[in-house]
Amino acid sequence: MKNILIETKVAQYDYDELPSEYRQLVDIAKGNTQTAYAPYSRFHVGAAVLLENGEIIGGNNQENSASPTTLCAERVAMFYANSQFPEVAPKAIAIAAFTNGSYLQAPITPCGSCRQVLLETEQRYGKPIEVILYGSEKVYVIQNVKQLLPLCFEKSSLEIG
Ligand code: THU
Repeated sequence: MKNILIETKVAQYDYDELPSEYRQLVDIAKGNTQTAYAPYSRFHVGAAVLLENGEIIGGNNQENSASPTTLCAERVAMFYANSQFPEVAPKAIAIAAFTNGSYLQAPITPCGSCRQVLLETEQRYGKPIEVILYGSEKVYVIQNVKQLLPLCFEKSSLEIG
């Protein structure tokens, strides 16, 4: 028996020290929290996807009284980006959350289902997608989605043999 250590590299920034392109993306994600439909949780999440061609696609969580049909902000944004620009690889996604009158202090972290969807997109285009997790006290930047989903189930897992 041996133990295997799996590490995730996270760069921590203050909002002010983020590269301006990413600060702009975070600002759009923050803005998108304000139009989320979250009457049940009152937890308003916004996302913004930066594509390689410079386009920015936004999204936010869309809740439903039949709760399993709720969709997270990350998936709304990424699915829309993939549907409108199927030939263009996403470069980065920023996520922010707003509840009880303010933005979360700690970085918002995507749920497992969203990580799986983001990973599929990363592998589909074969290019890393940087993940920017906004918190008012600190911002995390992760170089690619795979870092957020070690030991993942992926396309190659389906290959038999
Ligand atoms: N939610 C997101 O949109 N993204 C996340 O990263 C975490 C959770 C939404 C789903 C639901 O509408 C609400 O936040 C509470 O779970």
